[in-house]
Amino acid sequence: MKIQIRAVSQISPDQSVICIVGKDEIPSHIVLNRSEKEYALRRLSENDEYVFVNSYYKCTYFVKANTELPHFMMLEEIRKRASSMKQLIRANNHTEIVITSEGLSEDVSEAFAEGFILSIYSFRKYKTKEEEKEKGRYPQKILLHNIKNKDKVLWLSALCEAVYMVRDLINEPPNFLNAPALAREIKKIGNSAGFTVEVLNKGKIEALKMGGLLAVNRGSIDPPVFCILEWEPEGKVNNRPLVLVGKGVIYDTGGLNIKTGENMSQMKADMAGAATVAGIMYVMAKCNIPLHVIGLVPATDNRPGGNAYLQGDIITMFNGTTVEIGNTDAEGRLILADALSYAGKYKPELIIDIATLTGSAAMTFGNKAIAVMGNADEKYFKLLEEAGNMVYERVARLPFWDDYKEMLKSDVADIKNVGGREAGAITAGKFLESFTEYPLIHLDIAGTGILKKDDYYRIKEGPGSGLRLLAVFLKWLASEMEKR
Ligand code: BES
Ligand code: MN
Ligand code: ZN
Repeated sequence: MKIQIRAVSQISPDQSVICIVGKDEIPSHIVLNRSEKEYALRRLSENDEYVFVNSYYKCTYFVKANTELPHFMMLEEIRKRASSMKQLIRANNHTEIVITSEGLSEDVSEAFAEGFILSIYSFRKYKTKEEEKEKGRYPQKILLHNIKNKDKVLWLSALCEAVYMVRDLINEPPNFLNAPALAREIKKIGNSAGFTVEVLNKGKIEALKMGGLLAVNRGSIDPPVFCILEWEPEGKVNNRPLVLVGKGVIYDTGGLNIKTGENMSQMKADMAGAATVAGIMYVMAKCNIPLHVIGLVPATDNRPGGNAYLQGDIITMFNGTTVEIGNTDAEGRLILADALSYAGKYKPELIIDIATLTGSAAMTFGNKAIAVMGNADEKYFKLLEEAGNMVYERVARLPFWDDYKEMLKSDVADIKNVGGREAGAITAGKFLESFTEYPLIHLDIAGTGILKKDDYYRIKEGPGSGLRLLAVFLKWLASEMEKR
């Protein structure tokens, strides 16, 4: 399912149009007859969510932007409005549709396109009946009127394609997508976009002594993988790379500390962080962002097989640290820790990890914010917050004091993998921090990355949380570094 986005400079009178306005006025470039105009104006002044005019040979939709809101909130309202209109737009069977605006900034049309495209996603790969597959119908072409900057069209297309890819990966059931299969899919994505992918297999992982990844994998019937994604463009603006690390738990049963039904139900999405890293790399390469970025994806499922790791085990991690296993359900931090230590070989400028890591983050912020913490320079957090507002994947900061690290003390090993019930999201972050000497930002998407029901254009199961956030963050970072 691929939707084309193109920029157009003209709208012909017979084309169907979505027109976003700031005032109760019909722009001159919208062709309607007098009674249609009167109708539209009356409805606009009544402050309806949107106005629909069916002229027999074309459809015209008007959407009013609330210009009193802060700009980034107005954009989000437009994205949500687009998702509320998806049934109606779909019912009209357009093969293409123009999006235009009047008296508003260009990004308003982009926001509508984005909200619309992201909201019509559905995962139908395993539907066998034609009429069920049919439900996925949509306008194949979205024409953005008067977007002067062609790069923006490319950016928006790449971003939407990447979100779709991430969602597809998350939605794939674990019996199809095990760790080796995930590695294959990531390779395909790399080939299509132009970044490289190296896959370390179990033998290599053993040789490297990645004790965290191997311990989690012990109860599994499939081998683990460790994927290294790299985008190193000519003319890169950074000397030291940025490293992204994504949690690739294919399915989290909890291991021997097994989860119960309700808690396990959506755990195929526990590789959302890994999928997101692949999606971000796709955007970087497709849009030729001049930033050297490396993605690390440790992947395995977490199962209670006969050889599964146990509560009480003491394991030795990739960097030699010993870890007492207090709970086999705190597996994400173990595979991430090995990747964070491994990242040290690149002497990175910054490491960002993204993971569906703790129920605690979900309990704290619900699906409204990504929990963020770390020890990196404040300038990065500031940029991340701005990016979060712009794409409306907002981040909420948690304290990251060393006091929390005390909760991870072990009597028998260097550290324990759980810190008790309190402050669970923070102690998980502190655990990760202790495995790298490089600046770290940790994003916990447990609340935003797995949804039980659709939240406008954030489609249930795996909405693709964090992708637009980090893609925009990296793009902005690249242009800031270019200026330096
Ligand atoms: N993948 C889960 C976290 C999670 C929970 C994500 C709910 C999305 C929704 C993680 O591996 C986990 O099980 N965390 C435990 C840690 C605990 C045992 C210290 C948790 O948060 O309960
Ligand atoms: Mn778990
Ligand atoms: Zn997990």
